[in-house]
Amino acid sequence: MSKKYTAAIVGCGSIGNAHMDGYNLNDNVEVVAVADPLLVAREEYMEKYSIPQGYATVEEMLEKAEPDIVSVCTWHPLHPAPTIAAAQAGVKAVICEKPMATSLGAANSMVDACEASGTKLIISHQRRFTPGWEKARELIQEKAIGDPVWVNCKIVQGLLNCGTHAIDGSRFVLGDPQALWVMGAVERDTDRYERDTPIEDSCMALVQMEGNLQLFIQSDLCTEGAAAGGFLIRGTDGMLDVSEAGVKLFNADSNGWKQVPLRVEAEEIRAIGGGTNAAQVRELIAWIEGGPEHRGTGKKARATVEIMMALYESARQHRVIHLPLQEEGHPLELMVEEGKLPVEKPGRYDIRGFLKRDAIDEKAYAKLRSQGMAHHQIMRTLNENKQEG
Ligand SMILES: NC(=O)c1ccc[n+]([C@@H]2O[C@H](COP(=O)([O-])OP(=O)(O)OC[C@H]3O[C@@H](n4cnc5c(N)ncnc54)[C@H](O)[C@@H]3O)[C@@H](O)[C@H]2O)c1
Repeated sequence: MSKKYTAAIVGCGSIGNAHMDGYNLNDNVEVVAVADPLLVAREEYMEKYSIPQGYATVEEMLEKAEPDIVSVCTWHPLHPAPTIAAAQAGVKAVICEKPMATSLGAANSMVDACEASGTKLIISHQRRFTPGWEKARELIQEKAIGDPVWVNCKIVQGLLNCGTHAIDGSRFVLGDPQALWVMGAVERDTDRYERDTPIEDSCMALVQMEGNLQLFIQSDLCTEGAAAGGFLIRGTDGMLDVSEAGVKLFNADSNGWKQVPLRVEAEEIRAIGGGTNAAQVRELIAWIEGGPEHRGTGKKARATVEIMMALYESARQHRVIHLPLQEEGHPLELMVEEGKLPVEKPGRYDIRGFLKRDAIDEKAYAKLRSQGMAHHQIMRTLNENKQEG
């Protein structure tokens, strides 16, 4: 019996596997097509997951496969175009990877295109489905620590890469509060990139949320205790130490720090491979079928993009940025172009450069793959060999 919904994956790389797992754990979705300009990438997926159709371009895939749901699993600068193309082709839903976009203008255009076509847009901040975050959100709603006043997010490997998870996650746990202003600082004296996107060497920001709540973000300043999935929340009557896998509570009744039991259902989600991706798809299908709005909508992720871009814009303008943010470009890129962040240690490098597939040796890739090597290991090996050669 054919399944109720068809899906297609754009970008047959690392995270494409997690999307595939997410669909395959849902009985009512079948992945029927993939799109990737690299023949070896799409052939590998078609064979591994028994997918009948593979295309070199998103446009051809949309026209011929006519999927109901499209996963956008390409690098960040390539999130808006396939999302907008899918919306214009009239798909029911798009699951786009994080960070949603590298500018507020791009994020807006994704939300607008999907609204115009009635396409349900979600961004894969899939950690919203982890048991620790779900429990922490419940505890905040139950006022287990009174009113939250301070959140500390400490991350490494770039604001847009890991920071987006931490900011989105703390917003989720706190009930998606509105940000009012952002004061940020940025350092960039090396020519640092992440998946073809210029990033900072380090940055930090204070974000004022509605009410008395403040969010403090520090990125690539220290590694001790840094985790995209973890943050400390202080409230008027206690504290929560939140990670994806658990929550510790400190309040008048806890007798010191107390590990809070998680809901069984949430633990089951964690136990299944690709479980958060499956849960994200399940909630999307419920939304398509008239159920409640998905917890990870494009609009919610747009708010996270706005905070990150406001951090950069604050450093660019040397002032507090009151939201809504006016600058629609990527303020960090603008600062680089404007000479405001001179590179003192020349030599462009990309912290995910080992994944770059533009000029890889397809035969060598296929050979290593047939030996059972994982995608990211193959890419690291081939790109290291290229640099040495
Ligand atoms: N949600 C998460 O936890 C999580 C984890 C890892 C990565 N990601 C995100 O996923 C995205 C992809 O990262 P990755 O590590 O999977 O990258 P990757 O390099 O492993 O895969 C990207 C794939 O896209 C393909 N591609 C390039 N141009 C294309 C085009 N025009 N059309 C279709 N395919 C194209 C490449 O050939 C490659 O196969 C990034 O934005 C990253 O931030 C999210």
